[in-house]
Parts: sequence; C-alpha cells; structure tokens
Amino acid sequence: MSLVFAFLCLILVVWVVFLSIRYKKLKHSFRRHKKALRSIARTINSIRYGNIYDTIDSFALSVLPNFSESMNRMIEAIVDREDMIKEYQKELNDQLEAQKEVVKLKEDFVATLTHDLKVPIIAENNMLNFLMDGKFGELTQPQKEAVFHLKNSNKELVELVEILLETYKLNETQIILTKEPILLSRLIEKVIDEMKPIAEANSVTLNFQNAVSEAVLVDEFYIKRVLKNLILNAVSFSTSHAAVDIFVEKSEQNFIIKIKNYGNTIKPEDLEHIFDKYYSTANKFRKVGTGLGLYLSNKIVNAHGGEVFASSDEEENSTTMEIILPNC
Ligand SMILES: Nc1ncnc2c1ncn2[C@@H]1O[C@H](COP(=O)(O)OP(=O)(O)OP(=O)(O)O)[C@@H](O)[C@H]1O
Ligand SMILES: [Mg+2]
Repeated sequence: MSLVFAFLCLILVVWVVFLSIRYKKLKHSFRRHKKALRSIARTINSIRYGNIYDTIDSFALSVLPNFSESMNRMIEAIVDREDMIKEYQKELNDQLEAQKEVVKLKEDFVATLTHDLKVPIIAENNMLNFLMDGKFGELTQPQKEAVFHLKNSNKELVELVEILLETYKLNETQIILTKEPILLSRLIEKVIDEMKPIAEANSVTLNFQNAVSEAVLVDEFYIKRVLKNLILNAVSFSTSHAAVDIFVEKSEQNFIIKIKNYGNTIKPEDLEHIFDKYYSTANKFRKVGTGLGLYLSNKIVNAHGGEVFASSDEEENSTTMEIILPNC
C-alpha cells in the first residue's frame, strides 16, 4: 500500500516538475512573442509617421517569421507606391515649370511685339498729322477724308496695342490706383464724345441719362479705359441703326453705370466666360478682338472694390453691362 502511495507521489512530483518546466517555457515564449509584437507595432508606427523605409527587425522575424515576412512585403509594396507617386509628382512639377516657362515666353513676346508695334504706329500718326496740316501741300477734300479715316484706324490700332501692353503689365504687377474725386457724369460725357466717330461709323446712336451729381473717388485714367471698353463693345455688338443707352445712378452704397445695347445677345453658357482672358466671339462678326477688353475692365473695377455684371434679355434682344463702384 505504502509502495503504491510512494509511486503515486513520485508520478505527482514528476508531473509537477514537468508542468513547471512547461510553464517556464511558455512564459519565455510568451515574453518573446510580446517583445516581437511590440517591435512590429513600433515599426508600423514609425512607417505611419513617414519613415517608410523602416522594416521589421531580425528579432521579430525569428519569433514570428511568417507574419513578419508578410509585413515586410507589405512595407515593400508601400515603398514602391510611394516612389511611384514621387516620380509622378516630379514629372508633374517639371511639366508645370515647362508650362510656366512657355507662358512667360509668350507674354514676353507679346510685350516686346506690342511695344515695338507702338513706335511705328505713332510715327505713322505723326506723318498723317503733317499730311492733314498741309505740310506736304494742300489736300483735296476726298484726300482729307481718306487721311481722317486712316487716322481713326490708327487710333484704334494704338488702343489695341495699349490694351495688350496693359494686360502684360497687370500680370506682372498689381494695379496701382491714383484715386481722386471725379464727376462721373462729366467723365461719361467725355468718353461719349470720344466714341462718337466710332458709333457714327457703325450707325449707332449713344444716349446718356444721368441721375447723379456727386463725385466718385476713382482713378480717372483706369475708369475711362473701362468705360471706353464697354461702350466700344456695346457699339461693336449692336445691330445697325440701334441705340446704346447709358445710365448712371446712385444707391446708398454704390454708383451704378449701365450700358445697354441691342442685338447679338450673349448666350447664358457664354456669360460665365466673357470675363476670361482672350475670350472673344468678335471673329464670328468678322471683327478683330483680343478678348482682353472685359478681362481688363473687370480687373480694374475689382481693384476699385467694385464689380462688373453682364446680362442679356433674349425677348428684348438686349445686353446690359453694369459697373458697380463703391461710394467711398
Ligand atoms: N455689349 C455686348 N453685347 C454682346 N456681346 C458682348 C458685349 N460685350 C462683350 N460681349 C461678348 O463678350 C466677348 C468678350 O468681350 P471683350 O471685350 O473681352 O473682347 P472683344 O470685344 O471680343 O475683344 P477686345 O479685347 O478687342 O475688346 C465678346 O467677344 C462678345 O462675345
Ligand atoms: Mg471688347
């Protein structure tokens, strides 16, 4: 009996020893796995913060080989993608730089060309003035009329060249305004007087209705340019023998100038583009247009803190340009 008991005790002792060895081994293995998992977590975190070239270390690889290798392959795939994205980015940047260079070259070319064009046109104008004044002998009436038309065409050319030059300048620098109090009604009358020959040549009448006697604080040179551009558009896109109606009024906060012409309305889908640089439908009407008039006018009015709005009324067959200038 005691022998059986002793045998059972021995088995128990052996069992306990076996269990404690097994427990120690398990504990050791658990610690190693925990350490390996911590190391993997550290690597993942490091990748998350941008160190994409980190890999799972050799310790984790020895403890959890399959899992660690899969992780390393995943990291390699991320690195490959990242390198590809970087390459695309570099390509895009290079293309962007090349495009900027082309735009700069184009604008430099336009600036030089327009500047150089202006000189002979002015020289030509002086020569025409001499002709008109009879410096080369008295002209007959038809000759005088021909020279007068030549002078008008020359004036238009100078203006076209000036618009191009100004666009170039506005791209390079901000508009610097020299504001002073100006009587809008008087300024509009002055512009109408200057535009009358062109309006008459197009068989268009310019009507003006004024409801404002106060002065507005603006840069006269620039606002005159805006008025000229918009009135010239109104005349150019009018049907023959129509009138262009010009109104000026004042609300509590703004001065509002409206220029309304009849014929050739602007389609709703075109309205959002007409203020874009180089947008022009002038060639449809066999006219020359740079597509810069409204672009420049809008920029100038914006520089004054105002806005230009365009609208067309299909039923009335009219187009109205509205210049809003803040009363300050
Ligand atoms: N009063 C108007 N009536 C009808 N369409 C207009 C009127 N004003 C502008 N547009 C449209 O808007 C376009 C852009 O006008 P914008 O003045 O910028 O250029 P443009 O007159 O064609 O050329 P330019 O730069 O020589 O003035 C015109 O081509 C025309 O289609
Ligand atoms: Mg125009």
